[in-house]
Amino acid sequence: MSVQTAKRRLSPANIEALKGDRPIVSLTAYTTPIARLLDPHVDFLLVGDSLGMVLYGLDTTVGVTLDMMIAHGQAVMRGSERACVVIDMPFGSYQESKEQAFRSAARILKETGCSAVKLEGGAEMAETVAFLVSRGIPVLGHVGLMPQLVNTTGGYRSVGRNDKEVAKIRRDAKAIDDAGAFAIVIEGTVEPVARDITAELRSPTIGIGASPACDGQILVSDDMLGLFNDFKPRFVKHFAELAPAISKAAEEYAAEVKARTFPGIEHTFQAKK
Ligand code: KIV
Repeated sequence: MSVQTAKRRLSPANIEALKGDRPIVSLTAYTTPIARLLDPHVDFLLVGDSLGMVLYGLDTTVGVTLDMMIAHGQAVMRGSERACVVIDMPFGSYQESKEQAFRSAARILKETGCSAVKLEGGAEMAETVAFLVSRGIPVLGHVGLMPQLVNTTGGYRSVGRNDKEVAKIRRDAKAIDDAGAFAIVIEGTVEPVARDITAELRSPTIGIGASPACDGQILVSDDMLGLFNDFKPRFVKHFAELAPAISKAAEEYAAEVKARTFPGIEHTFQAKK
């Protein structure tokens, strides 16, 4: 990474400073061409471990590895120059101890050149977040619905629907905020709770299925681009309909190949006379 590139990019501190100024814009990216298209429009790109489900067809994010995150992180860094790039720490790469978390996060920063990591967890991860931040690794927190915990929580249900859940998510968000996260993703959380947490915290909240009350918003790009015909949760808006456009293009290509109308003369190399 050149010094010039590092200077142009938004930093985690720049993102943190946007609280109270204007809404923070973020999308996921996993590849160079998509990062290139999104980069001018977002404050930060998240290389989310959702790539396990979106790109690799896994049922959950639990099977995603550190090597997968680093390979896709490098691709997104190559495709972007302005946005802050944050890379998810995958399941099993940080929960064992704060030392394990530091080793994994340091690998991510050294091998990709990105500026920050994201990890899921509330009060139980606060000590780890403080350990990373105090040793030069900016951390984006992630509370509320935590997809890596699917095997213990039992699913992808929104949270904050009873007093016990409300108390837990408020405690979690405060602990990660106090630990020094530069921003905190709040996923799948009912609006009044997301609103209260946003008002309480020093750091900006980034909502996904957590209402407009958050300081910023993030969506999985493939969701908002309409790449899935069969999956549209309530919190997703399709800003494009790419699935039918891709199907139609493939259908037309197949028909033209079968009819021998593609490739045409304009797509064909001729020998020089
Ligand atoms: O993995 C991911 O893409 C995420 C976002 C949905 C916040 O964690």
